[in-house]
Amino acid sequence: MNRILKAVICFIVLSLGARAQEIPQIGNVLSREKISLNGNWNYIVDVQEEGYYDYRMNPTSWGFFLNSKPQRPEDLIEYDFDKAPQMQIPSDWNTKDERLFFYEGTVWFKKSFNYKKKQDKKVILYFSAVNYEAYVYLNGKLLGRHEGGFTAFNYDVTDKIKDGENFVIVKVDNKRKAENVPTQIFDWWNYGGITRDVFLVETQDVYIENYCFTLKKVQNTKQKFREIAFSVNLNQKLSGKTVEISFPELKLKQSYVTDSDGKISGVIKAKTLELWSPENPKLYAAELTLGNTTIKDEIGFRTIETKDKKIILNGKPIFLRGISIHEEKPNGGGRANSVEDAEKLLGWAKELGCNFVRLAHYPHNEYMVRTAEKMGLLVWSEIPVYWTIAWENPATLQNAKNQLKDMILRDQNRANVIIWSIANETPHGQARENFLSQLAQYAKNLDSTRLISMAMEVTSASNFHNKLQDNMNKYVDVISFNQYIGWYRDVNDAPKMTWEIPYNKPVIISEFGGGAKYGYHGEKNQRWTEEFQENLYIQNIAMLDKIDGFAGTTPWILKDFRSPRRVLNDIQDYYNRKGLFSDNGEKKKAFYIMKSWYEKKKQDWE
Ligand code: GCU
Repeated sequence: MNRILKAVICFIVLSLGARAQEIPQIGNVLSREKISLNGNWNYIVDVQEEGYYDYRMNPTSWGFFLNSKPQRPEDLIEYDFDKAPQMQIPSDWNTKDERLFFYEGTVWFKKSFNYKKKQDKKVILYFSAVNYEAYVYLNGKLLGRHEGGFTAFNYDVTDKIKDGENFVIVKVDNKRKAENVPTQIFDWWNYGGITRDVFLVETQDVYIENYCFTLKKVQNTKQKFREIAFSVNLNQKLSGKTVEISFPELKLKQSYVTDSDGKISGVIKAKTLELWSPENPKLYAAELTLGNTTIKDEIGFRTIETKDKKIILNGKPIFLRGISIHEEKPNGGGRANSVEDAEKLLGWAKELGCNFVRLAHYPHNEYMVRTAEKMGLLVWSEIPVYWTIAWENPATLQNAKNQLKDMILRDQNRANVIIWSIANETPHGQARENFLSQLAQYAKNLDSTRLISMAMEVTSASNFHNKLQDNMNKYVDVISFNQYIGWYRDVNDAPKMTWEIPYNKPVIISEFGGGAKYGYHGEKNQRWTEEFQENLYIQNIAMLDKIDGFAGTTPWILKDFRSPRRVLNDIQDYYNRKGLFSDNGEKKKAFYIMKSWYEKKKQDWE
C-alpha cells in the first residue's frame, strides 16, 4: 500500500477514533472528585510541526505524541520530552519563555503521571481551556482535536488510562486563521498554551452531567412562595435513577426519578427566599446526589428581564455601572487564570463603584465568574465573534455555536450572569445577519432565562447626529454598541452630539474611552496624557446621559492590556492604553471621574 493511501487511512481512523472520546462538558467541575494535572509539563516548540507531519506534509503515525525513546543504540528519535524544558501549567507560553513572546504556532506539552485505577470509576480528562487548537493524546493514542481557546472540553479516558505510569501529550497551536473564531485580527495578545486548569475527574459510570436552577418570575403577586425551576441530566439516557436535590438552608430535600432520557425536571416551591443582587449576593448551598456521589454548588436566585427601555432585576429597574475587562493578569503576567487574579481585577472594578462587568471578548475562566458572583458583580459574558469573521463558512458557524454552548453550559447556574453576548463590532451584511441571527436563536434555545446582546456600532454620524441602525436589533433583548467619540472621532464634539436609537429596548454603551499613558501629564488637548483621557471621560458621560433608554455602560477598559496592534514606542509599547488603571494597578485621573459619576448613578437609581 503506498504511503499516501496509508497516511489517508491512518488520518481517517485517527479522526473517527478521536470523535469517539470527546464527551459533553461536565458541569461544575470544581466540585467534582478530581486529580489536578496542573504543574510542570515538558514542552517542545515545533515551528514546522515536525512532530505531526512527515516531510510531505502528511500526518505521520509516528509523531511526537508517541513519546518514543530509542530502544537500540542505532535508533533515530529526534525529540525527547524528558530532556525538554518545563513550563508551569496552567499558563500562556508568551510570558513564560521569552523566545515565545510573539510566537504563533505549535508547542507540544507532555505530562507524565501515575494513576491508580479504581474498579468502579469512570475517568474524564478535563481541560478548562487551551488556546487555540488542541490535539490531545493519552499514552500515544489520539483522544481528539478541540478548537476554540476559551471554553472547556473533556474526554472519557476510562479505557485508555493505565494502572501506573501514563503520559498525556497535547499539541497546541495558536496560529490565527481567517476561518477561526476569533479570526485573524483582534485587539488583544494571542496568548497560546494550556492556559487554564487540567483535571482528571473520577466519577461513577452513570453520573450527573449537568443541571440548571432558575428562579421563575412571579406570575401571581398573591402567591406566598417562589418557584425554582430545575433540570438535571445524566450522562446516559437511563430511566429509573434516583436523584436527590437539597437546599439545606431552605429545608428543601426531594428525590426524583429520571425519565427515559436520563433527565429530571420540575419546580421546587420555596416559602422564603433571599434574592441574589449586587447589594446582597446571597448564595444557597445546593447538593445533588446520585448513588454515593454528591455534587455541591452555591446557587443564587434572581430574575432578569427587560421592560421597554429598562433592565429589570428582581422586578426593579437597574442601571448597570460597568467596566470592560480582558482576562489578563496585572504587571504583564499574561493570561489570568486563578482566584487571586479574579479577586485582584474584580476588586479594582468594585473600587470604581461597579455592579457589572463585561468579560470581553471571550468567556473568561470559571474563577472569574464565580468570584464576581460572590462579590455582587453582574456579568456580560461573550464569545469571540469579533470583527471580520468568515460569515459564509459553515465550520466557522459550528465553531461559534460550540463555543456559545460550552460557555452557557459552564455558567448557566451563575446568578450574576445576565447577558450572553454573541458578537463584537461585526460589519453589516446579509451573511453576517444569517450567521448572527442563528447564534442569537441558538442562545435563546439553550437559555431562555437570560438576555441576549452584542456590541454593535454606530452606523451613521453626520452633523453631530448619531444614529444606530442594525438589523440585528430584533434578535437581541438589549441594544448595545461601542462608540469612540473623543478618541477615534469628533475629539471635542461630545457636547454637540445627539443620539437616535430607534428601538424600544434598553441601551448599553458597551465601549467608550480613550488612551493615556499613566504618569504622562499635559494639556487636555495633548493626546496620550492623563488629562486628555480625563477630559474625554468628562465629556462622554455628560453626552451619554442624554441617550434615551440609557441603561448602563462598560467603558473600555479596566486596565491597560497587551495588544500586537499597539506599537507606538514610549507610549503604547504593545499595550492598549485605554485602561482606567495602568497595567501595574495605578489609577489614572479618569478613574476618579468615572468613580464619582458611578456614586451619583448609584444614588439616582436606589
Ligand atoms: C474596539 C474593540 C476593542 C478594542 C477597542 C480599542 O471597540 O471592541 O476590542 O480594544 O475598540 O480600539 O481600543
